[in-house]
Amino acid sequence: MSDLMQVVAIDGPSGGGKSTVSRGLASKLGFTYLDTGAMYRAVAFACRDQQIKPSDERELKQLLQELVIELLPAVNGASDVQVVVNGKEVGRHLRTPEMGMLASQVSAIPAVRAHLTQLQQDMGKSGKIVAEGRDTGTVVYPRAAWKFFLDAKPEIRMRRRADQLRSQGAEVNEQDLLAQIIQRDRDDSKRAVAPLKQATDAVYIDSSDKSAEEVISLMYERILHSGCPL
Ligand code: DC
Repeated sequence: MSDLMQVVAIDGPSGGGKSTVSRGLASKLGFTYLDTGAMYRAVAFACRDQQIKPSDERELKQLLQELVIELLPAVNGASDVQVVVNGKEVGRHLRTPEMGMLASQVSAIPAVRAHLTQLQQDMGKSGKIVAEGRDTGTVVYPRAAWKFFLDAKPEIRMRRRADQLRSQGAEVNEQDLLAQIIQRDRDDSKRAVAPLKQATDAVYIDSSDKSAEEVISLMYERILHSGCPL
């Protein structure tokens, strides 16, 4: 364990169930949940809010320097963490398919990745976190003691995302949503810097026919029997 960090890194494509599973696992372990995707969405939101084109390197760097992102525990029984960007709670504006696409675009910019990776590494310094994202096991915490790659068939991922959006009152066109999910995964996997990919030492889990509870139990058991102290 000596040089391993007490970090659970959960990566995978969108809609694979990472958020529900990571939150549940963090609570079972007594660890802090870190939603790194929310940080990329926060940058995307700030760019749109301040009408900054992500391609304008000078303005983007300025934005990053001034950007304060706070991830706070959920309130009033809500499942999602609160995301405070420059003092304003903007969580519900971040979790739309459009913001997901924009987040994917800004996440391919090296300056954005370098900035957020540093913040995430600072947040994980003292360990005891469950981090979810695309590169947490490969780039952010390569020395994480426990790594998982959570996947599911695209149609299943689309259905889960559709259910989630409908429960928030949104109208959903399933064909468009499926196309968006496939495109975002392709973009996230093909980008030059820190692409979505399974770490060689990550455990692959296909959640297509598993409930979130089953996946959490599976991960929990592996962690308990990994030989790395909790
Ligand atoms: O997990 P999410 O859907 O909230 O992530 C939104 C986008 O942010 C995703 O399409 C790619 C990017 N992202 C990333 O590049 N690296 C991460 N660790 C997390 C998210």
